[in-house]
Order: sequence, then C-alpha cells, then structure tokens
Amino acid sequence: FFASVEMAPGDPILGLTETYLADTRPGKINLGVGIYVDEQGHVPLLRTVHEVELGLASAAKPRGYLPIDGLPAYNQLTQQLLFGAGSPLLEAGRVATAQTIGGSAALRVGADLLRQVAGAGAKIAISNPSWGNHHVVFRTAGFELLEYRYYDPSSHGLDLAGMLEDLGKLEPGTVVLLHACCHNPTGVDLDAVQWQQVIALLQERKLLPFIDIAYQGFDQGIAADATAIRLLAASGIEAFVVANSYSKSFSLYGERVGALSMVGADRDEAARLLSKIKQTIRTNYSSPAAHGASLVAGVLGSSELRGRWEQELGEMRTRIHAMRAGLVERLAAHGAPDFGFIQGQAGMFSYSGLSKAQVLRLREEHAIYALDSGRICVAALNRANLDTVAAAVAAVTR
Ligand code: LMR
Repeated sequence: FFASVEMAPGDPILGLTETYLADTRPGKINLGVGIYVDEQGHVPLLRTVHEVELGLASAAKPRGYLPIDGLPAYNQLTQQLLFGAGSPLLEAGRVATAQTIGGSAALRVGADLLRQVAGAGAKIAISNPSWGNHHVVFRTAGFELLEYRYYDPSSHGLDLAGMLEDLGKLEPGTVVLLHACCHNPTGVDLDAVQWQQVIALLQERKLLPFIDIAYQGFDQGIAADATAIRLLAASGIEAFVVANSYSKSFSLYGERVGALSMVGADRDEAARLLSKIKQTIRTNYSSPAAHGASLVAGVLGSSELRGRWEQELGEMRTRIHAMRAGLVERLAAHGAPDFGFIQGQAGMFSYSGLSKAQVLRLREEHAIYALDSGRICVAALNRANLDTVAAAVAAVTR
C-alpha cells in the first residue's frame, strides 16, 4: 500500500526546531522559529491569561462541542480587535468571522473557500519573500501562485515601486496576500500612506485582498498594527479577507487560536459566506477547540483584563526593540559590517542579509540556528545570549 510513498522534505521552520532539539551541544540557541521568549529564555504565560485560566479551572465547566464556527463571544471580540469597536462594517453586518485552529487554518479554510468560488483558474499573488507556508497552503488548495516584488535587498527596505508595478499587472479577481504588520520574514512594513496607494490599486484592478495578521501589537500597538485593515474597511472596497492569529499576541502558541473573517458587500452576502466557511470547517476538522479561545475571550471580554493584556503586549514589544538595539550595538562592538537596518525593522523577525552559507556556519560552528533565508527571530534574543550571537555573526560575516 505505502511502498511507493516518498519521504517529504522537512519543514523549513518547524523542521529546523526538530534539528535544534536533537542538537546535544550545550549553549545552543534557536533563532529559527517565530516564538517570543522572555529574558529567562522561556515562552511567557501572560499574567492575564493565567488569571482567566485559573477561573476556568475552578468553574469546572463541561466540555461539549463548540459551534462549527467557534465561540460566539470570541468571534465578536476578534472582530472588534481587528476592525475596531464601532466599525461601520461590523454595524452593517458585513463581516463573517469564524474561530479557527490558529492562523494557519484560517489561511487554509479561506484558501479552500476562495478556490471553490474562483474555480480552476484561481490565482494568488504573494510577496517576495513571504512566510514559506503561504505558498504551500495556497498551492495545496489548488491556486496558481504568482509573486509581487516587496523587499529591496540593497536598501533592506520596501520596494514600493516594484510592488505597485507588479500588482498593477495582475488580472482582475486575483487574490493578493498581504501582511498587515511585522512582515514575515523581512520585518519591512508599509506605512499608512503606502497602504493607501496599494489599496487604491487593489480597488482599481478589482483584486481581492487577503490580509494575514499574526503579530498584531508586536510593532506599535493594537490599532496602529491594524492600519491596513482599518484603511481597507474605510476605502469602500466591497470584499476582503482577514486571517488572524493569537499565538504571539497572547503567547498561546500550542493552543492554536486564530480566526478567519470574510467581508462581503452586505449582510446577506456575509451570511452566505459564513455558511460556506462553516461547511469548509465541518469537512476539515468539524469544529475548533475550546480552551484557547475561552482564554482569549476571557481577557478581551473584560475591560480591566484587556487593558492589562495590552500592557503585557507592550512589555514584549519593548523588549524586542531593546534586543534589536542591543544586537546592533554588540555587532558593531565585534567589528561586524553595518547591521543598523535591524533597528528599523518591525516585529519578531529580522531579515539579516546573512547568506545560506553563513547561516550554515552559524549552525555548525556556533550551534546558533537561523533560517536558510537569513531570517532570525530577534524575539528569541536576551541579555544572556546577545553577545554570543553577535560574536558568532561577526565571525561568519568577516
Ligand atoms: C514562524 O514563521 O516561525 C512562525 O509563524 C511559526 C510557524 O508556524 O512557522
């Protein structure tokens, strides 16, 4: 039966963690996967999340199924976080939101549904570069993949002219995947004015924006990091899609909490979209898991806890900024070439510009793990490992 099954290649991100875990060298450092760790090197359990969790445990709640589209309060609070409380889109009932198993299932459920709607000629344009799983998820769902220019290696910044030129050539109906903030892997984002330009083009070319927002709050804060979504909502564009994740912002990686939101032209269209989302979920994993969503809803549903959560998020953000500054300073102290651009990048990641050969040397000679693309997770740095990392990077770039 299975004799002809071939070995699949390891995942470039999670597979690297497997290699890291199998490494027996003391002092090894994992800057591969996008996970925020604190100064002690631990994935934090947020105080607000823990408080809600203690309350849930003592309430001894029964464990029935959630509805196919998840916990209603969670979906409502998610909409408010993404679109802003009082958003006219929400008031008009134009947004269909369903809880999903992390941001990944939001992407996959959205991809399956859009592929159904678009038929065999479905196309998606993805930034070059992008999170590796974007390509695989949409290809597996039956999309033809296209690329648009995004990152300019010479300036370590945005290639806005290239991006606009490539988007301007897409056929109407093409889906365009956009990172709302903290672009993964580059850390290079659009500002509000640049978003306006992109959105005007999307509207003019009748393209369908599919926003991936996995790091809301990791750059500037909840509202600022949702600028792309808020501007899309205000633009009058008829339809767009949002996949969001709470893995990072609530430090709930293993609970797999995300959501898919689809914006339709009116309330009736949104209701039909929700029915299709539910059908897609039911035939994939039936319904989502309850625990993580209950934690998120518990925090977001209390104004007191929500305020304290935003403070905790701010602490993570501030620590990342400090690590960026610290890394740049230590690299200079070790005589490395100029890495000042790292300070201007947003979110968890830095596209360091390290070559694959340099990344391999870091792994083999220094037990420091980064992605082959040169992406490093700056949120995995702390005061104890910063100098070691800087010295090793300086050694492989000299
Ligand atoms: C990453 O890019 O490292 C994270 O989004 C984790 C993942 O699932 O790849």
